Amino acid sequence: MIVLNHVGKIYPRATHPVTALKGVSLKIAKGSFTLLMGPSGCGKSTLLNLVGGLDLPTSGEIFFDGQCTRDFEDNEWTALRRRDIGMIFQFFNLLPMLSAQENVALPLLLRGDDTKEARQKAQEALDRVGLGHRLDHWPCALSGGEMQRVAIARADAISPKLLLADEPTGNLDSKTGEEILKLLASRMQTSGLTLLMATHSAAAASFADQIIHMKDAEIDRVERLR
Ligand SMILES: Nc1ncnc2c1ncn2[C@@H]1O[C@H](COP(=O)(O)OP(=O)(O)OP(=O)(O)O)[C@@H](O)[C@H]1O
Ligand SMILES: [Mg+2]
Repeated sequence: MIVLNHVGKIYPRATHPVTALKGVSLKIAKGSFTLLMGPSGCGKSTLLNLVGGLDLPTSGEIFFDGQCTRDFEDNEWTALRRRDIGMIFQFFNLLPMLSAQENVALPLLLRGDDTKEARQKAQEALDRVGLGHRLDHWPCALSGGEMQRVAIARADAISPKLLLADEPTGNLDSKTGEEILKLLASRMQTSGLTLLMATHSAAAASFADQIIHMKDAEIDRVERLR
């Protein structure tokens, strides 16, 4: 479903450019759970940002369901993201002046759902993460684990094909982190979505199909778990 073909990324800095990815090639099967692991600075977030279209590769190609994204215009990436890609992050990235329900409804409104439909779907997505009773709460009134649940509901509300997660448990204690992993794994099973997650958490391995170990901007090895 996702194919990377010799994808390279160089951040052009005036004095010394940073090579964040050196010709990475990989395939991620539809419905699979893949972990990206490796030391800080090895290129995990860079890779996720390229797959999510938040940044563009310097070289190589990324295919999404057979469609090459290399020559995509900005609006084509935006359309793909709004339709098919959900993202969650270490620091949740909720908008502080919107309620939980409004945060979750926002991507639905952006893709053109009407207000009533967006509110309804946001409520359903929050129900699925066990926060149906906290619709009107501001992010600041929620715990870290609850904020991440809202972020998962926001990513999940559009029914994406692909969920990208950048250290989603990195800012949570280990028990809460494990609950979030279980929630993601169960959402995957019921919805059939593909999950690509960067993590430093060894606990995540028990939920994953494969681990891509990265080192120095390259894939070091791929470990298949099932
Ligand atoms: N916008 C940027 N400009 C310049 N260099 C960058 C930029 N973003 C990332 N880098 C560099 O690219 C390399 C890869 O960074 P990246 O954030 O992908 O690593 P990471 O594996 O996610 O690390 P961590 O585990 O700490 O999150 C690092 O050397 C980093 O300093
Ligand atoms: Mg990172």
